[in-house]
Amino acid sequence: MKKQLNVEILSNEEIAENTYLLKIPCPEDVLKFFRPGQFAHIGIPGAGELLLRRPLSINSVDYEKKEAHIAYHAAGKGTTILRDAKAGSTLDVLMPLGNGFAVKPAMRKIWLVGGGIGCAPLKSVFGKYADREYKAFLGFQCKSAVYQESDFKKYADVNISTDDGSYGTHGFITDVLREALETAQPDVILACGPLPFFRALVKVTRDVPVQVSMEQHMGCGTGGCAVCVCSVGGENRRVCVEGPVFDSREVDVLW
Ligand SMILES: Cc1cc2nc3c(=O)[nH]c(=O)nc-3n(C[C@H](O)[C@H](O)[C@H](O)COP(=O)(O)OP(=O)(O)OC[C@H]3O[C@@H](n4cnc5c(N)ncnc54)[C@H](O)[C@@H]3O)c2cc1C
Ligand code: FES
Repeated sequence: MKKQLNVEILSNEEIAENTYLLKIPCPEDVLKFFRPGQFAHIGIPGAGELLLRRPLSINSVDYEKKEAHIAYHAAGKGTTILRDAKAGSTLDVLMPLGNGFAVKPAMRKIWLVGGGIGCAPLKSVFGKYADREYKAFLGFQCKSAVYQESDFKKYADVNISTDDGSYGTHGFITDVLREALETAQPDVILACGPLPFFRALVKVTRDVPVQVSMEQHMGCGTGGCAVCVCSVGGENRRVCVEGPVFDSREVDVLW
């Protein structure tokens, strides 16, 4: 149930190095149907018709305040313009889009595994599925890139690693995960991050079901242009509609 909204930015603040948290109002019907893992497609303010919307995951929703929060990196032209958008200015947002994580009632032990800005959509599961047992494995490049650690700690046993060893365990989060899997096993792993991270992830998770949220370049975001197609189970699937979340065993580019 997607909606095109013109919303007033509530706040847009830096939460870690080059990482920003955008807060926007979220109507009741969007909150009602929102599923963790879904994303917003955001029109870049002042960029005119030349620039496509940018896909950004919904980091969390606040059911009481009726807000959606989006955590993002200022990665290129569009997100750098977004970074400079002030509270009170208007944003063109299409949301919620995509399928989201499939969290079944039997999935009691959930491990969240994120790489960098890929940690963003994982936080949204806490609001919807507060009654589960969580562990989180969050990997960052360095200490200054770590964000929302205390938010994750409210609900999960949190492991953090940094590539340069400046915070948490020195090394890749997939190595921390490998060690944890030697003594315990979750019902499901929900993961988001870049492609090399996913490839390392599927090597260590063996028979644990893993749902991955794919970051594919997008055009329309609503199923009409096929820019976002990736091969899943040997068939072309549109990441914006049939994804972004897929069963890792079926995503051909990971194997
Ligand atoms: C489903 C989904 C959820 C995402 N969630 C987040 C998030 O929560 N936080 C966050 O920081 N980033 C997220 N991304 C990545 C984000 O969309 C890109 O960083 C952003 O579009 C870059 O735009 P730009 O104009 O700043 O960069 P430019 O490099 O100038 O972008 C040029 C074009 O490439 C596309 N593009 C560039 N990088 C990516 C990428 N990694 N994935 C998809 N399209 C890309 C842009 O949309 C644009 O059309 C997500 C991507 C997808 C597909
Ligand atoms: S972005 Fe157009 S079909 Fe997915």
